[in-house]
Amino acid sequence: MNKLEMLEDLPSNTSDNEHFQAVVERAVSRRGFLKSGLGLSAAVFLAGSLSACNSDDDDDDDVAETPQEPASLLGFQAIPIFTGDDVRIAAGYTATVFAPWGTPLFAGDPAWQNGRDDAAAQARQVGDNHDGMHFFPLTEGNSDEGLLVMNHEYVTTSGAATYTWLFGTQDTTITTLDQADKAINAHGVSVIHIARNAAGKWEIKLGSRYNRRITAATPMRLTGPAAGDALLQTSADPTGTLVLGTFNNCGNGWTPWGTYLACEENFNTYFGTTIAGDGRSAAQKRYGLSSGATAYGWELFHDRFDYKKEPNESNRFGWIVEIDPFDAESTPKKRTALGRIKHENAAYRIAADGTVVVYMGDDQADDYIYKFVSDGKYVAGDQRNNANLLDSGELYVAKFKSGAASGDFMGDGEWVLLDRNATPELAGFANQAEVLIHARLAGDAVGATKMDRPEWVAVHPDSGEVYVTLTNNSGRSVTDEANPRAQNRYGQIVRWRETGNDPKATTFEWDIFVLAGNPVKYTDRSDLKSGSANVTADNTFNSPDGLGFDPDGRLWIQTDGNYSNAGEYEGQGNNQMLCADPVSKEIRRFFVGPKECEVTGLSFTPDGRTMFINIQHPGEDGDSHWPDGGTSVPRSATIVITKDDGGVIGS
Ligand code: FEO
Ligand code: CA
Ligand code: CA
Repeated sequence: MNKLEMLEDLPSNTSDNEHFQAVVERAVSRRGFLKSGLGLSAAVFLAGSLSACNSDDDDDDDVAETPQEPASLLGFQAIPIFTGDDVRIAAGYTATVFAPWGTPLFAGDPAWQNGRDDAAAQARQVGDNHDGMHFFPLTEGNSDEGLLVMNHEYVTTSGAATYTWLFGTQDTTITTLDQADKAINAHGVSVIHIARNAAGKWEIKLGSRYNRRITAATPMRLTGPAAGDALLQTSADPTGTLVLGTFNNCGNGWTPWGTYLACEENFNTYFGTTIAGDGRSAAQKRYGLSSGATAYGWELFHDRFDYKKEPNESNRFGWIVEIDPFDAESTPKKRTALGRIKHENAAYRIAADGTVVVYMGDDQADDYIYKFVSDGKYVAGDQRNNANLLDSGELYVAKFKSGAASGDFMGDGEWVLLDRNATPELAGFANQAEVLIHARLAGDAVGATKMDRPEWVAVHPDSGEVYVTLTNNSGRSVTDEANPRAQNRYGQIVRWRETGNDPKATTFEWDIFVLAGNPVKYTDRSDLKSGSANVTADNTFNSPDGLGFDPDGRLWIQTDGNYSNAGEYEGQGNNQMLCADPVSKEIRRFFVGPKECEVTGLSFTPDGRTMFINIQHPGEDGDSHWPDGGTSVPRSATIVITKDDGGVIGS
């Protein structure tokens, strides 16, 4: 069925046919840029006739067909949903649990004590709630030895200062400083030196000088244009440049000069007050600080987490932290030039002239997508030149527009500069430091497009096309073309192409790669809740979050959504990882995680033959004993994925 009828914004004086032609011309005009002819009309988008997974192309529409379908990148058999307390992976692959929460990282340390370990022990063990991750080969191209660097986003709480599993029992309300400090030490980042042993199995090198724990108490510097600003000064740090710790590091990034980017997300939830009365500023409210007690309870033991005692401490979080994983003594740096938001991840692209561009999403319903464009140029191999490239540049925020045609799930867009001195709407900010510290307010001022919770961004390794997961937004009432559903429960992936394929461009074209949906629940495929044509009863999922490309350009999609397998989510099972072919748009389910987890974090060895992913918060509601089974404490863990024939993952 032609679904143009149901689209809302068709100009009334344009027949479907004329509209259709305009869309086709637009799609065709993009082909020079896209090479593979990815531009799609609304009808094609919903009916799916370009998709390689639909072989019957006998619809008698007038849409120009793709001249030649390339062979699918997906070489594995899709798997069904799963609702049990284990993992499932495509046939011919092996998933091995690796480096679970509590694993000792230093030689001579005692074994994990089933969660009864104290704060000092936790500071030397792998942290909790594994999230973003990157494998740095120890030497260039090395697929047998490297540094696995990962975020430990948070620890699971179940009420005021009550933690789920962190102390070895399902619910523990903390009453001591050591308990608060254990939670602090379970946050942050692990740097883990790993290598294949003689049998080909990945192992931790326990005695390595590279192994490191960075926690929510590790000293680090604020650098870049906002460093030292009055808004970053506290009683413990009148310089506004020295911070203790990083936390709620969600997604990640990395740079071609060998550093790791830990991205601070929901920092607001760590700041509360024990003092009566609200007392939050407008900016603190915009960033989501709540009055009263926090679920973590750190403010009970450390004054800096009480926003009434230290009103600026929360301004020192919400940044991207650059870490040199090859120097365990190095001081992590919070790069203020990239702006302060609830950072999900950071994905770079290098322009032809060496300019470094970093794409970033702000994970909140109705928040924005940003990009940083460096002043300096990247020079391969010149560490001194590259060391501080992220300290100086311009910050932009995205506006997504409908483009020439409405209702076709594509359009164009604009990057709006957030510069106090060049952008008239920002004249009310005191200085550029305030623009960066209150980047969300700057985005508000210029009218950036309110997105359906931007999560991970990923850059295609060849085309430079940029993909972003918009996880869901059940509160949306006003739609636009990139965020086309009210009460969006399922999420979508949007992609854009910079004008002239130049990452520094200030304009772009975009389209929706997949509108996630549930065709099991919504069998009428004209209902947008059933998803776009590349969503089927066999691959249905909700809430795309983690996202990344492998070296061959396969797009890996991880979910952090509703795992009830009921109602709106019937037939979707536990959280999962799928793989998509960016050209055909086909999506297949590759992996399913255990109960009550999310699947997140992804990285590959350079040869693409080992993939690392993370299982976060299994049993967050109390109903999992993964991975150890029985009545054990559930633990977040990495999964090492290998192909049984030694081949490339996904091939
Ligand atoms: Fe920590 Fe946006 O997920
Ligand atoms: Ca459009
Ligand atoms: Ca996430």
